[in-house]
Amino acid sequence: MRVLFIGDIVGSPGRAGLAQVMPEIRENHAPELVIANGENSAGGLGITEKTANDIFEAGVDVITTVNHVYRHRDAYEFLDRTDRVIRPANYMAGNPGRGSTVVSVGDRRVGVVNLSGSVQLKVARSPFPEADAIVERLAGEVDAVIVDFHAEVTSEKIAMGWHLDGRVAAVLGTHTHVPTADARVLPGGTAFITDAGMTGSRAGVIGVRREQALESFRTQMPVKFDTADEDVWVNGVVVDVRDDGLANSIEQVLVPAT
Ligand SMILES: [Fe+2]
Ligand SMILES: [Fe+2]
Repeated sequence: MRVLFIGDIVGSPGRAGLAQVMPEIRENHAPELVIANGENSAGGLGITEKTANDIFEAGVDVITTVNHVYRHRDAYEFLDRTDRVIRPANYMAGNPGRGSTVVSVGDRRVGVVNLSGSVQLKVARSPFPEADAIVERLAGEVDAVIVDFHAEVTSEKIAMGWHLDGRVAAVLGTHTHVPTADARVLPGGTAFITDAGMTGSRAGVIGVRREQALESFRTQMPVKFDTADEDVWVNGVVVDVRDDGLANSIEQVLVPAT
């Protein structure tokens, strides 16, 4: 089973770029399940029902999020209603939405889990015991588990890869918006990458217009950020999942939307 995982989709340029390149990616990689991180899909920060639907229309099956998930209040009711958009499992239990979901891919069941790192990000519980609890809960219910681990620091993401090695099909990092060069299958059979990258403009600074990001760094004063829109790329990975729920391979997908 081939699973395509797409890094943080940033704003309308990211959504449009994804829609544009999905036919090409489908032709080249034939994914049977498509997961994308959509936490920056609404104007660069957050997600709404509309931006989620745009992403679904492009061919995505499940959307993950994390630190920007609650940016738009009008999306809370949608997050409670849908089982196709998930938020961190290690947030407060009463917060809108759910931390994992189960989807059917042919005759197989796949669990998709969203976790937030705890270093420099606010969480209710450590992602490590939380991951144990979810993997245990899903064990009898699914054939494979894919984890989007959205975290700030490379160390925490690499640690989570080792923590879940041999227990899930993939631990895929997001949040830093820069694809890392360390995609591999760990010895226990879990596909891992520190960061899948982002789907958005490479002409800015992790999705923001570069002149605004530069002004912010130069002056250390508040600056209004807009989404950069030139030179959009789709960043992600394709994971080939075996029948036993572990991974055969992980391959980066870095495609320009021209
Ligand atoms: Fe992001
Ligand atoms: Fe993030």
